[in-house]
Amino acid sequence: MEDSIEMILQDYGRVLPTSRPHPVLSACTGALLTGFYGLWSLFVMPGFRKIPWNLKVPYLPSSKVQTLNTMKLLEGRTGHLVDLGSGDGRLVFAASSAGFRCTGFEINSILVAYARSKALWAGVPSSQATFVKKDFWKTDLSTYNNVTAFLAPGVMGVLGEKLLRELPDDALVIACRFPFPNWPHRSSVGSGLDQTFAYDIGSVRSHLRNVVNPVV
Ligand SMILES: C[S@@+](CC[C@H](N)C(=O)[O-])C[C@H]1O[C@@H](n2cnc3c(N)ncnc32)[C@H](O)[C@@H]1O
Repeated sequence: MEDSIEMILQDYGRVLPTSRPHPVLSACTGALLTGFYGLWSLFVMPGFRKIPWNLKVPYLPSSKVQTLNTMKLLEGRTGHLVDLGSGDGRLVFAASSAGFRCTGFEINSILVAYARSKALWAGVPSSQATFVKKDFWKTDLSTYNNVTAFLAPGVMGVLGEKLLRELPDDALVIACRFPFPNWPHRSSVGSGLDQTFAYDIGSVRSHLRNVVNPVV
């Protein structure tokens, strides 16, 4: 006798795993995803609302190699250094241990609090490393002679204009991973995602002047 469709389906149910997810498993997956999203938004979102869309840069820490490459380009330099978007402070700490007086501007209050507590824990005095919760686009940078920036390709052109307006001629700018469009770099270290580029502001200014008014 032929099996009824109900009997065939019952047999399949015994052999094949049920397609309905286990309720506890789905609840755990949901909770995990919500937790990850919560953490992500805590670190990426605070303070961002006031920054225009085209200038928003999310948090992504420098790799160890990238930090070392940046420090190589800073060799022989002294003075006051600013890290634009200092994140957890790793570049600021590396530069302050090389003797720079450092300031990190960071829009994300959680990262600022984290970097400050790391400085406290490591006994780094605020005269060597200061973390300021501030939008660097709204900050005058004219007192700094060393600048580091690990940001995003889309903001480098606008940042270049700001730096050219504000920095002294003897300033050195280090761009991590994303170079400035149309600026000639003095040197670069590393390759791929860890590449860093050094620019002398004085040389960039005279190059750009020559492009606008070529010497004949
Ligand atoms: C790619 S991460 C680099 C972090 C750190 N400099 C490093 O090398 O590990 C860029 C950082 O810039 C911060 N940032 C973005 N826009 C900012 C702004 N307008 N003012 C201050 N910080 C900003 C972000 O919150 C993020 O922490």
